[in-house]
Amino acid sequence: MSEKKWSGRFNEPVSELVKQYTASIDFDKSLAKYDIQGSLAHAQMLQQVGILSSEDLSAIQAGMNEILQEIAENKINWSVDLEDVHMNVEHLLTLKIGDAGKRLHTGRSRNDQVATDIRLWLRDAIDFIVDLIKDLQTALLNLADEHADVVMPGFTHMQVAQPISFGHHMLAYVEMLGRDSERMQDCRHRVNRMPLGAAALAGTTFPIKREVTAKLLGFESICQNSLDAVSDRDFAIEFTAASSILMMHLSRLSEELIYWISPRFAFIDIADRFCTGSSIMPQKKNPDVPELVRGKTGRIVGHLMGLITLMKSQPLAYNKDNQEDKEPLFDTVKTVIDTLRIYADMMRGVTVKPENMRAAVMQGFATATDLADYLVKKGLPFRDSHEVVAKAVRMAEEQGQDLSDLPLDVLQSFSKLITEDVYHVLTPEGSLNARNHIGGTAPEQVRAQVERWRNILQQI
Ligand code: ARG
Repeated sequence: MSEKKWSGRFNEPVSELVKQYTASIDFDKSLAKYDIQGSLAHAQMLQQVGILSSEDLSAIQAGMNEILQEIAENKINWSVDLEDVHMNVEHLLTLKIGDAGKRLHTGRSRNDQVATDIRLWLRDAIDFIVDLIKDLQTALLNLADEHADVVMPGFTHMQVAQPISFGHHMLAYVEMLGRDSERMQDCRHRVNRMPLGAAALAGTTFPIKREVTAKLLGFESICQNSLDAVSDRDFAIEFTAASSILMMHLSRLSEELIYWISPRFAFIDIADRFCTGSSIMPQKKNPDVPELVRGKTGRIVGHLMGLITLMKSQPLAYNKDNQEDKEPLFDTVKTVIDTLRIYADMMRGVTVKPENMRAAVMQGFATATDLADYLVKKGLPFRDSHEVVAKAVRMAEEQGQDLSDLPLDVLQSFSKLITEDVYHVLTPEGSLNARNHIGGTAPEQVRAQVERWRNILQQI
C-alpha cells in the first residue's frame, strides 16, 4: 500500500501534505463503476487484438465483478495512498488476480482513462436529467390543462399589462424547459465520444482497435485527435452551461412563485410540505424551496465560471489542473437532479386561487389594449385610439373604477365609435378569447398547446 506505482523514480516518498493535496479519491470514487466499465471494454479489445490472453481477460472480468459487488455493498476501503479511483481499482484488482491485473493498463494512461470515465458518467447523468425535465414539464402541463380558463394579470415591467390565462403562463415554462431538454440532448452527442486510445497524449505503440472499444461502450464516435481527447473538458463546460440556463429558468419561475404565494398577491398556494415556518413569527409560511432554487442557481453559474476558468490557460495536453473538473461537475449534476425532482413534486402541490388573480386583473386596466384594438377595428388609427383609451383610463383611475365599470355614455364621451358591444372586449375573458392564434393566450390555444406538448413528450 505504501508503494506508489511510479515510486521507483524517486528517492523519497511523497510528503503527507502533498499526498492529501493531490489525491482525488475522496470525490472521484463516484466514477468507480464507470472506470470498471471502461476497463472491461479496454481489456476485451486488448484480448481481441492479441495483447491479452483469454485467461487474463477472464481473470480481469471475474475480479472486476467482485469489485463491483464490493462497491455495491459499500465494502471498499478507498486509499489516499493510491491517489485516485483508477489506481485504487487497479490495485484492488491486482490483489485479487495478480499479474493479469498489472497487464490491464497496457496501451492506455490515466489521462485517456479519466476522460473516458467522466464522459460515461455524464452521459448517464444527462439521460436522467432529460427524464426529470420531462416529468417537470408534465406537472406544468397538468396545471395548464386544468387552469386554461383561469384569468390572471400578465405583467410587463411588473405592471399589470394584459389578461392572460394561467395555463398560458405555465406553458411559457414548458417551452423553456423544452429547449433545456434539447440543449441537454444535443450536448450528449459531444459528451458521447471516446477518448480511450489517446493514452497519455500521443496515442500508443500497441495495435489497439479503438472502434471495438467504442462500440462496447456505446460511444457514438471516437475522439480523432489524441491531444484533444485527453485535454479538453469542453463537453463538461457545455453541460454546465446548459445546466446554468436550465437553473436560470427555474430561478425565474421560483421568483414568480415567491411573490404569487405572498399574501399581497395570494395567486397560488404551495403545499405545506414545501414551506417552513419562522422560529419567531408564528404567522409565517416561507417558500424556502423556490428561494433555495433561486440561490442554487448562483452556485451552478459559479461552477460554469469555475470550469471555464480552469480550462482557459492550460497548454496542451493533459495537466493536473483537470482533476479540478470533477467537484464542480458532480455538484452541478447533483444540484440539477435534486432541483428538478423537488420542483416537479412542488408543482404537483400547487393550488390556484382564480378569484384573487381575477381581482388583480380588474385593478390594473388590463383590457385597455383591447379597447384600443376595438376602436382600430372601427376605423380609428391606432395612435389616436391609444390616446382615447389613455384618457378613459385616467378618468376610470380617478374614479377608482375599471374601464368595464364606466357607463356607455361616459365611454362615448371619449369616442363616438364606442357602442354597447364594447363590454365584450372589456371583460378579461373576452380579452383572452380574442387572442386566438398560435402562441396566443386564448384558452382554446392553451388546450391545443397542452395537446401538442403531450405528444412531443411521448416521443422523448
Ligand atoms: N485523477 C486524475 C484526474 O482526475 C487522473 C489523471 C491523472 N493523470 C496524471 N498524469 N496525473 O485528472
